[in-house]
Order: sequence, then C-alpha cells, then structure tokens
Amino acid sequence: MTGATDTRRLLDVKGLTIEIDGRNGPAVVVDNIDLHVDRGETLGVVGESGCGKSLTMLSLMRLLPNKIRVTRGEAKFDGRDLQTMSNKELRKVRGGDVGFVFQDPMTSLNPVMRIGDQLIEPLIYHRGMKKPEARKRAADLLRLVGIPGPEERLQAYPHELSGGMRQRVMIAIGLACDPKLLIADEPTTALDVTIQAQIVDLVKELRRKLGMSVVWITHDLALIAGLVDRVAVLYAGTVVEDAPVDELYANPRHPYTQGLLASIPKLSDAPAARLSSIGGTPPEPRRRPPGCPFAPRCPLAMEICRTTVPRLEPVSASGGHRAACFAVEQAREAA
Ligand SMILES: Nc1ncnc2c1ncn2[C@@H]1O[C@H](COP(=O)(O)OP(=O)(O)OP(=O)(O)O)[C@@H](O)[C@H]1O
Ligand SMILES: [Mg+2]
Repeated sequence: MTGATDTRRLLDVKGLTIEIDGRNGPAVVVDNIDLHVDRGETLGVVGESGCGKSLTMLSLMRLLPNKIRVTRGEAKFDGRDLQTMSNKELRKVRGGDVGFVFQDPMTSLNPVMRIGDQLIEPLIYHRGMKKPEARKRAADLLRLVGIPGPEERLQAYPHELSGGMRQRVMIAIGLACDPKLLIADEPTTALDVTIQAQIVDLVKELRRKLGMSVVWITHDLALIAGLVDRVAVLYAGTVVEDAPVDELYANPRHPYTQGLLASIPKLSDAPAARLSSIGGTPPEPRRRPPGCPFAPRCPLAMEICRTTVPRLEPVSASGGHRAACFAVEQAREAA
C-alpha cells in the first residue's frame, strides 16, 4: 500500500520480532509487529502490563537490555533504516529528531549529573547551541512542564526531586530539541490527574506548533482519548487491532479491545459495573499458545483460534481499521 517513497510516513516498523535469551533457549516477546506513524500524527499504543510496549520502543533506538534482541523485521525513521545505521548516525537521531520519555525516570536520568546539564547537553550536541542559550532554553523547558523555580532546579540532582518532578524533567528532556517524533512511554503515570491533563495539553500544543508526531504508550485508554489520532492495541507482543481513535472507541472489533474498553470506569456506571474486566492473564513469553495468544481468555474462541495465528486484516472498507481475529473475519464473511 505504501512504500519507502511515501513521504507522509515518519516511522515505519515492519515485522518486528524480539526475543529474550534464557536457560531454555530464546523466547519470543514481540512477535511480528507492524506499526507506523505519519507526519504530525499521534499514535496511542495500549495494552496490559508485559505485552511488549516498552521493549518495542526501546528496540527502535537500540536500547534493549542485555540478552534481549531484535531477530527480525525493519524499522525506518524518516526513510532511514534504524537497525542498520551506524552508531554515530543513531546518536544523532536519538534525543535529537527523536525525543524519548522513558517509563522509569530513575534508570534513565543520570543520578550524578545535575538536571540542568542533562537538559543542556543535548541542546549543545544536537542543536549546536552555545551554553548560555542552552541554559536559558533548559529553564524555559522546565517552566513549560510546570516545574516551579526552574532556574534553581537546574542545579538539582535527580534524587533531590519527587517522582512526579522527575517525570516532568524526563518530559522536558524528551521535548528539548523540538523532535520530529516524540516517543513517550507511560509519561504521566507518577503524576496526579490535573498534571496529567496539563502534560497532555502541552503535547497537543507542541504537536500543533511544531507538527511533531507522537507515539504515546499507556495502559490508560481514557487518558489518551482526546490526544491521539490512531490507536494500536497490543496483546502478548502482537498488534491485535488498530484504528482511528474514534472508530476504535465506537466500534471495537477484537474481543480483547472490547474487554479493555469495557473495563474503563464511566461516571454513569453503577459501582458493580466498574468491575467488569477480562478474566485471566496474558501468557508468559515462554508459554505462548500456538494459535491466537488471546484464545485462552477469549469468549469467542473457536477451534482454529487454538491452532493458527490470525493475521491483522482490514475490517473496514477504507482499510484504516484492522483486527487480527478469526471470529471478526467470520462475522464479516457472513455479512
Ligand atoms: N530485562 C528483562 N529481562 C527479562 N525479561 C524482560 C526484561 N524486560 C522485559 N522483559 C519481559 O518482556 C515482556 C515485555 O516487557 P515490556 O517491558 O516491553 O512490557 P510493557 O508492555 O512495557 O509492560 P508495562 O506496561 O508493565 O510497562 C514481559 O514479559 C517482560 O517480563
Ligand atoms: Mg513498559
């Protein structure tokens, strides 16, 4: 449908597969994922804990932990292959045109470096700023993410800040170089609800001002409803459904997505209804079933679901809404 010449496409991931080494040999944790983000577009990536959201994004910047590696697939940013570019080229992309907000600020902020230096360094390296200019920009960034007394905070070390403040510093670092693409991994989990909403508004505004693209990873379907254009739903290392956000919320097709949406509490719900959620847990990487990974929890599972992996297929005429589910396919064929 779209090729390397498609200039709308900023990030294009195809067939990405990630394995973890273990005593009993490698186990697949991310299985043949396709994802893409167009220029100026915001993609939400949702799914339960352990479904491979963080590993997928870390792999793009070659930041996977030890013993975890990409075994198949390709990832292109702005037409350039992220897997094969040199380390030097990749360093220019990472933190420059691609900004990151990592899930765990404590492991990604340098504990022995002042906050200010951690903000100033990328501005000097990627954007060629002189130190005084970078310093001013660093303070502006802290102000932008709602950190009081930004000039003094530049002097602080990460451990001197609260978890919420550290998370905001991470967001400031992710945005520092006006990236073309921001990849934010659960960027607001340590923040209270009003601050979360402020950060979402800030990202929306930057997206409008800079034409920035965003990948926003979260458990929280409700939080991203007003932020993202499209959503990819991950389950056990595979994309089970993707669609424009309104379409996904109004007409979820995959039984897993339906379960996820049903578990969002609504103000109008009676207390008992709020407890509806999907029974069971996702499979461990080493215990992936042979067919659809969701089959053991699925109310609609058929014989074929236990033996064959369903492919992500269009469920709408436009092709913009896809699901990987035999039951959905069957219903469509019957209609
Ligand atoms: N360093 C590691 N060593 C071994 N296994 C790991 C490691 N990091 C992740 N995994 C495993 O890989 C799978 C995917 O992990 P990942 O961190 O990508 O999940 P996630 O979707 O980001 O979850 P969460 O929502 O909790 O952040 C999980 O089963 C996890 O246990
Ligand atoms: Mg994660």
